[in-house]
Amino acid sequence: MDSILNFTDKVVIVTGASSGIGAEAARIFAKYGAKLTLVGRNEQRLGAVAQECKEKNGMRPLKILVDLVHPGSCETVIHKTVEKYGKVDVLVNCAGSFSLSSVFDETINTFDDIMALSLRVPFRLSQLAVPYLVKTKGNIINMSFSMTNKYRPGLLVANMASAAMEKFSIQAAAELATEGVRVNIVSPGVTRTNMLSSLDINDPILTQDTYDFVSNFLPCGQVLEPKEVALYICVVASGAFKNMTGANLVLDGAASLA
Ligand SMILES: NC(=O)c1ccc[n+]([C@@H]2O[C@H](COP(=O)([O-])OP(=O)(O)OC[C@H]3O[C@@H](n4cnc5c(N)ncnc54)[C@H](OP(=O)(O)O)[C@@H]3O)[C@@H](O)[C@H]2O)c1
Repeated sequence: MDSILNFTDKVVIVTGASSGIGAEAARIFAKYGAKLTLVGRNEQRLGAVAQECKEKNGMRPLKILVDLVHPGSCETVIHKTVEKYGKVDVLVNCAGSFSLSSVFDETINTFDDIMALSLRVPFRLSQLAVPYLVKTKGNIINMSFSMTNKYRPGLLVANMASAAMEKFSIQAAAELATEGVRVNIVSPGVTRTNMLSSLDINDPILTQDTYDFVSNFLPCGQVLEPKEVALYICVVASGAFKNMTGANLVLDGAASLA
């Protein structure tokens, strides 16, 4: 694994780096030598992750505290990264949150919020990063959810955004293949992160009960740990599989097959 995961001199942007899968990915990228831009909103948590990364490879990550849906935030991420490092090798679009939605909703607000963060932000960051990724023959990782094609109450707009994200990634992979830039999707199943706090589930016992309940319906009987998903992201982002592009890479213990 050591020879595959070598990010020495590679510049890696991770959004959603203050928590869950993004935070674990940042730690692994750091362990294998990456120069990092870490993006999040929570100053304390982003600072703690950045400190851990610095302890792993001696390099202080660039921390960017922004709400990515605010106008100009995506531009800030790419411009500050290029200003500091001069290039971009990998963009990991990992920022996300979870909201319930249904066709019975009375306003368009949830639709707009989900589409803004889950689709518009990764699209805009990708657009802005492409000129730099073309120069480095770099790659983009987008996130989806392995159960997108299943009906689950409350997931209407989240599943619509994931479906669009998959179409975007595949089309962009085809457009960018001639430039040597790869675009892939990582689609985990349910993963133990801070995602439930988006639903105001913050109590540790209630959180554990929720994951225990969900686990009962999973073929492998357990939810994923963020470290495993993060390692998968890092392997996909590495140079190990130069022809892997336009792939939707599922990691879910067969949950989507059941
Ligand atoms: N957990 C799962 O079961 C699961 C399954 C499939 C796919 N995914 C996807 O995996 C990705 C990572 O999620 P996670 O499970 O690791 O969740 P998490 O622990 O809740 O982390 C979410 C991250 O996104 C950041 N974020 C949220 N809204 C933001 C905004 N408006 N601007 C900037 N940053 C924002 C958060 O930053 P702050 O905390 O600093 O605000 C945090 O760093 C998401 O795209 C999610 O959809 C998760």
